Amino acid sequence: MLLSSIVAVFALCTSALAQRATAPFTEPKSGITFQAYKHTSGYQFGIALPPKPGNDFIGHLSAPASVGWAGGDLGPKMVGKLLIVAWPNGGSVVGSLRRATRKSSPPPYTGAAKLKPIAAGTYANASHWSYTFLCEGCLADPAVGFAKDAPAGDLGWAAGARAPADKASANAGLSYHNVGAGSIQANFAQAKATGYDAWAAKAA
Ligand code: HEM
Repeated sequence: MLLSSIVAVFALCTSALAQRATAPFTEPKSGITFQAYKHTSGYQFGIALPPKPGNDFIGHLSAPASVGWAGGDLGPKMVGKLLIVAWPNGGSVVGSLRRATRKSSPPPYTGAAKLKPIAAGTYANASHWSYTFLCEGCLADPAVGFAKDAPAGDLGWAAGARAPADKASANAGLSYHNVGAGSIQANFAQAKATGYDAWAAKAA
């Protein structure tokens, strides 16, 4: 009885871990392949790296229309690393780089990194929305980026149901992540893609 309970708890833990890992995902409109984490809500966060990682990566955030904002975190904790936040605004999507110093609506990031949308994978329709982007310079400072040369590392995710009040502004205040938030085990080795340069060249 005790043994079977231990086995059951162990099985639960390993399946919970497996659910937090990234897996291959091809964004259908842009054809870009990511290592992506998908939450049961439909939220998704993916990354693609060049064969030799530099200062940039290509990212993807998408969610059902019921999700007001979605965020990707370049580390497993809310405070410290770069946060990429996106939300739909009409037929388009607004992206914003943030950095939190405490657990409240994170202010805009003031460093040199930039988000450049990739049009083919960036849209909003009645059922869901998608933001595909080049995160330019996002890995230049190891204090805010992930360890791109490691085979794997921990990232984070967050999503909130309530859209920002001022959807048109990239500096809009955010509501709490009531859809969920937590860490992700990202496979950087498998995020490397030979098509990277051609995909990155499409960023505006
Ligand atoms: C109004 C905005 C926000 C508030 C008030 C807030 C608040 C909090 C609080 C209180 C926690 C502790 C555990 C929990 O309650 O879930 C937390 C955790 C977390 N948050 Fe936020 N957050 C906000 C926005 C964001 C954004 C934009 C991101 C990422 C893009 C983010 C990523 C995370 C992650 C990954 C965790 C889990 C790890 C940790 O506890 O550090 N949060 N947040």
